Formats: sequence, C-alpha cells, structure tokens
Amino acid sequence: MTHHVPLQADRTRDLKPWWLIAGIIVITFLHYNTSTHYLLLHEIYQRLYYIPIIFAAYSYGLRGGLAAAVLSTLIYLPHLAQHADNRVYAINQYAETILFLVIGVVTGLLAGAERRERQRYEQTAVELQRAYDELRSTVDQLLLADRHASLGQMSAAIVHEIRNPLGAIRGAAEALEAIVPPEHEKAEFLTIIKREVERLNGLISDFLQYARPRSPELLPTPPREIVEAVVKLTSKQAEQARVQIIVDVADPLPLVLLDAEQMKQVLLNLILNAIEAMPDGGQLTISARQRNEELSLAVRDTGKGIDLAVREKLFSPFVTTKTRGTGLGLAIAHRLVTQHGGRIEAADGENGGALVEIRLPVKR
Ligand SMILES: Nc1ncnc2c1ncn2[C@@H]1O[C@H](COP(=O)(O)OP(=O)(O)O)[C@@H](O)[C@H]1O
Ligand SMILES: [Mg+2]
Repeated sequence: MTHHVPLQADRTRDLKPWWLIAGIIVITFLHYNTSTHYLLLHEIYQRLYYIPIIFAAYSYGLRGGLAAAVLSTLIYLPHLAQHADNRVYAINQYAETILFLVIGVVTGLLAGAERRERQRYEQTAVELQRAYDELRSTVDQLLLADRHASLGQMSAAIVHEIRNPLGAIRGAAEALEAIVPPEHEKAEFLTIIKREVERLNGLISDFLQYARPRSPELLPTPPREIVEAVVKLTSKQAEQARVQIIVDVADPLPLVLLDAEQMKQVLLNLILNAIEAMPDGGQLTISARQRNEELSLAVRDTGKGIDLAVREKLFSPFVTTKTRGTGLGLAIAHRLVTQHGGRIEAADGENGGALVEIRLPVKR
C-alpha cells in the first residue's frame, strides 16, 4: 500500500485573485462613501486594505503582496488628491500607502518562507513514506523466504514419512507376486499397486525437488552432451507416441557452466510435456544455439499449443490441464533455471505447437 503525499504546496485554501480584487474595490467603495464625519468608521475602512494585502501575500507570496499593495495604492491615490490641501492628513495618507507596501512585502516574504518550509516537510514525508514502503517490502520478502525455507523443511519431513510406507507397500506387492500365479484373476491388482506406488514416489520426488532444490554444482559442460543424454532417455516414449525427435545443436558451442543433472531434468520435463501435447504424434525439435552471451536451449513441438487458461501461470506449481498431471514440471524447470542465473519462457510455435526456450549465461 502506498500513500501519495502531494509534492505541490496545497493551494486549496488560497483565495482566488478575483475575490481579492473585489475585496479591494468594496473597501474603496465603503471608504469613499463614508464621510469624515464618521471619522472612526472612515479610518477603519481605510485600514481594511491590510486584509486583502495580507491574504494576497499569504496566498501568492511576495509578488501577490506587492501586487495587492500597488493596486490598493493606485485605487487610493484619487482620495489622496482630494485632501492635498490638508498637509498633515496627506502625509498620513502617504505613510499609509507606504505601509501597504511594507505589509505586502513582509507578509509575502514570511509566507514564502513558510511555504518553502511546508514543501520541505512534505518532501520529507514523501521520502519517509518511500523508506517505509521499501522496508515493508523487504520484510515481506524476508517473511516469504522464511516461509519457503520452512515449507522446504516440512516437505522433506513429509516426503520421508511417505516414502517409507510406500517402500513397504511395494515390497509387500512384490512378495505377493512371488506366490500369486500371473494367470490368477486378481493378479493385475498387484501390477496396479506397483504402478501407483511408482507414481506417488515420482510425485513426492517432484514435490521435494520443487520445494527444496539442491543448489546447482556448476561445471563446464558441452551442451550437446545434455541434449543427447535426454534424447536417449526419452526416445522409447517418443517412438511409442509416434513423435519424431529432431536434434539441432549448433557446432561449435562453448562449454557452459551448469549442473548437468539439473539441466537434464529441465530438458526432460520440457520434452515430456511436448510428447504429451502430441497424442497423435508429431515433431519435436530440440535446438541449442549461442545467442550473444547466452546459450539458448529450445524445445518446440507440433502439438495442440499451450492452453489459454494456464498461459499466465505456466511456471507456478500445481498448474496443470492434465487429469493425471502434477503441474510441477515447469515449476521445477523454472526454479532450476533461475538457480542457474538463467530464464525460461514459453511461446507459441510457428505452426500451432508450443515453444519453450531456456537461456543460460555462457560467461561468468
Ligand atoms: N509443450 C506443451 N504444449 C502444450 N501445453 C503445454 C506444453 N508444456 C506445458 N504445457 C501446459 O502447461 C501445463 C503445466 O505443465 P507442467 O508444469 O509440466 O505440469 P504437468 O505436465 O504435470 O501438467 C500442462 O498441464 C500443459 O497444459
Ligand atoms: Mg509436465
């Protein structure tokens, strides 16, 4: 939440010049029309000029005060001429006009000083607010980091607690498999148990990897090695899905400082997504290029493209359009790539499919 303090001095309580001029005219009218028979009133009306002069100086500073004083003097001059014969009275009146100027100037200077002071306070208030906002966001970040850390610890504990019983379940299923003949009508349940145990194991490993990734061990690595290892790992699955994999690695490519295991994991997640996006087969292209000071690793497919519903939060955990998806693949990829000081982006491919690109810094 941000509060905005206006930098400009607040002028809402200033009087409009029109009202000041009107005031001077009204005073003049009263003054001229009150004969010296009512000397007290006459003298009071004369001094009423101070009020618009003070207001003008207060509202518009030195220039306003001077302007109001000069205007009052000008409008007052004919009056002076009227009494030119009475020397003492005339001198009094001259003194009066000089006083107009003095009041205009002094009030103007004071008001100017006050205004500058006020602006300084307002400026300070703005700076204080900014400092406060910064502090708030730092504290928020610290709290978030703390939450992440405890989330990581908690997940590690939970994963540990789940893995052990899963191991026991798998062991029991295998023990039963040894005594149940494969042709038994319920034998397939053992296969289901083992498959689901594997799936749960995979899920909690993914979750742990997301919640508590180990920090990367960066070693100079040829990018081709990573690409080829992952292609080898997925070739069977691609073949079953009738997906043709095209490897397009530029030669030569520099060695890149990266954690090979983690980068393989990232590419694997991208390739599996691409294969899953092409249930009726298609083409999957993996390219590696150097672009300026970065290594670009891109996976593009000819599948159905990225669903609009998930586009905005593609890299957030648990975002999935698949009935059996975990929504962790891209979140893990994002986390690992970020830990490498790189970035990952998804876009539409040229022919309808998806294009996911990773950029890693080549030099450090
Ligand atoms: N190559 C792709 N083509 C189309 N959609 C994709 C592609 N890669 C990712 N997506 C979309 O992003 C979602 C999140 O992907 P991911 O984080 O790997 O989780 P999961 O694969 O478990 O759903 C997927 O459910 C899918 O909708
Ligand atoms: Mg996935």
